Amino acid sequence: MTHVPVMPEEVLAALHLRPGAFVVDGTVGHGGHARLMAAKIAPGGVILGLDWDLDMLATAKARLEGVEGVEVELRHTDYRGLPKALAEVAASKRRAPYADAILLDLGLNLAQIESPDRGISFRVDAPLDMRMNRTSGEPASALLNRASPEAIEDALFRFGDERWARRIAHVIVERRRTQPLRTTQDLVDCVLAAIPVAKREKRIHPATRTFQAVRIWVNRELDGLDEALAAAARCLAPRGVLAVLSFHSGEDRIVKHTFRDLAEKGFEELYKKPLTPTESEIAVNPKSRSTKLRALRRTEEPQA
Ligand SMILES: C[S@@+](CC[C@H](N)C(=O)[O-])C[C@H]1O[C@@H](n2cnc3c(N)ncnc32)[C@H](O)[C@@H]1O
Repeated sequence: MTHVPVMPEEVLAALHLRPGAFVVDGTVGHGGHARLMAAKIAPGGVILGLDWDLDMLATAKARLEGVEGVEVELRHTDYRGLPKALAEVAASKRRAPYADAILLDLGLNLAQIESPDRGISFRVDAPLDMRMNRTSGEPASALLNRASPEAIEDALFRFGDERWARRIAHVIVERRRTQPLRTTQDLVDCVLAAIPVAKREKRIHPATRTFQAVRIWVNRELDGLDEALAAAARCLAPRGVLAVLSFHSGEDRIVKHTFRDLAEKGFEELYKKPLTPTESEIAVNPKSRSTKLRALRRTEEPQA
């Protein structure tokens, strides 16, 4: 299934693209936003797409192949490596190492969530892996089978706002003594054993917060996000814009504070409050509901 780009019109309005521009999509995914951006920078534009998931890059490549008048470069890298990838591509194209626009769409791709062998969704019984880059790092099962109860509780609370974090951590640690966690269903069982039926939220599945938290923990999604955002901002050309789409409060808090800090130092925020999807977009794409768009424009020349 192809991912539907979130807040497409708002993103394009924020980025203010012109033909010939040099654009970076730091989370290219299925290339939905990238295609829209590419259409705006033809002829003569360059689009550099990054993703840490090889499967995503393969789809993006196929989707971007047919776009005329634009050079497409794709790199398998964490967006924390954006400055390096940008410098390399700029050098190879004899361009200045600054981007006219950068997009970071921090959410997950639907294909990643629903892929039966990734173990990201509590709805699909699969090995409990959750890694987005399966060429490195530790699967969720290994992490949960070795971490201290305090570390598990802290992650569930910080990354999932899970009120029952302590109880869930306790159940995981008790259970793994005899039965190490192996599958997504094992983790669902721990959550269901920890949260009393009467106390469960009606609106969402009881395992929603735990799965989100463990996924963020496994992939270190928020580690160094502030530095990565600041580094990306410093890669902008004057008047260039960095737009960031975030999907939960932990992410948005980091984007907000980093942009506030930079706003005094050669950058300005485009919006006082983040933009959110319209009701009509939410009706068509309910997963967009919690999205927030923030954007930062470079006002000063980069320091030599
Ligand atoms: C919501 S999807 C992007 C969808 C894309 N904008 C589109 O319209 O098709 C987010 C993508 O970011 C990637 N991603 C998440 N964190 C990343 C990171 N730290 N470095 C590189 N890619 C990352 C994921 O693999 C996923 O493909």
